[in-house]
Amino acid sequence: MATIKLKPSSSVYVTTPIPREALKLLKKHCGEVRLCKDHQALTKQRLLKEVRDADGLFSLLTDKIDEPAIKRMKRMKVIANCAVGFDNIDVAAATRRGIMVTNTPGVLTEATADLTWALILAVARRIPEADRFFRAGKFKEWQLFLMLGAPVFGRTLGLIGAGRVGTAVALRAKGFQMKVLYSDTFRNERIEKEASAQRVTLQTLLRRADVISIHAPLDKDTYHLIGDRELAMMKPSALLVNTARGEIIDEKALIGALRARRIAGAGLDVYEYEPKVPAILKTLPNVVLLPHIGSATLETRTQMALLAAKNLVAALEGRIPPNLVNPEVLKNVR
Ligand code: GLV
Repeated sequence: MATIKLKPSSSVYVTTPIPREALKLLKKHCGEVRLCKDHQALTKQRLLKEVRDADGLFSLLTDKIDEPAIKRMKRMKVIANCAVGFDNIDVAAATRRGIMVTNTPGVLTEATADLTWALILAVARRIPEADRFFRAGKFKEWQLFLMLGAPVFGRTLGLIGAGRVGTAVALRAKGFQMKVLYSDTFRNERIEKEASAQRVTLQTLLRRADVISIHAPLDKDTYHLIGDRELAMMKPSALLVNTARGEIIDEKALIGALRARRIAGAGLDVYEYEPKVPAILKTLPNVVLLPHIGSATLETRTQMALLAAKNLVAALEGRIPPNLVNPEVLKNVR
C-alpha cells in the first residue's frame, strides 16, 4: 500500500488503483490519501481495517459496504462509489450514521449504451459463436444456411428502465428503425419525444418485444424482476440483454428458459453471483457473456473516477456533493 502524506487534515482510503487525474485531485485536497495498489477487490477483513479511521472512502461496486463495515467507521463522512449503481452499499445504514453516499451518474451513459448495442448485435447475429467457428478452422465455404441469426432492423425493442442509459439505448435504436417500448415507474417525456418510445406495462413489453434490454437499478423492487413467469411471457424468438445488475434476473430461471429454447438468446454483462456463474451457462451457445464491461473505456473510467473524487472532496470540504444519493443524511451529517 502507498501512503501519501500531505496536509494533516482529512484521511481518505481508496480501495483500488485509480486514474492519475483523480488521484491528483484527491492528493491536492486531502491530507492523507491511502490507496490499495491491488486491482483485485479488497478482502472483507482488509476493508474493515482500512475504513476504521478514514474520513472518506473511494469505493468500487465490488466493495461490499454493509452494516458491519459501516459500524466500524469511526470518522467516515463520505463514501464515494465509483459507479452509477450503489447497491453494494447499505445506504440506510450509512444515513443512520450520518455518512454521505455518492455515485457517478451521467459520465458512463454513452459507453454503457454502446456496449448494450454491442451485446444486442452480438447475440442477434451470433458474433462470438461465429468467431469461435472461424478460429476452429470450420469455415470451409460460404453456405446459404451458415450461422443464421435474428433480425434487429425494424423490430421491437423493449427497455426495462428508461433512465439515462435506457434513453441512450433508445436513441441508438432509431438508426435501426425499431419500435421502442419502455416500462418504468416514471414517465420519461424525452424518450417518448426523441425516440418515439411508448410506455407500456412490463407484461405488455415482455409479450411484444423482440429484444428486451434491462436498464433499471437494483433494489428491492427489481430483485428477480425477471423470473420464470416473465420469461414465459416472452416470445420464443426474444433476446434478453442485461447490462444493469445481475440480480434483476433470476439466473436459474433464465438458464432453464435458454436450455429449453423458451427464449432465443441472452446477452449478459452482469451476473446474479458475480463473478461466478453456473458452469452450464458457459456451455450454452445462445448466450454471450461479458465480464461487466459496460462502462469500460479509458475515457469513461477516468471521468467516473474524477467524478467520484470530486464528490468525495466536496463532502470533506463541507459542501453538498454533486451526486449525493442520500440527501436525507444532511439532517444528521457529522
Ligand atoms: C456499473 O455497473 C456501474 O454501476 O457504474
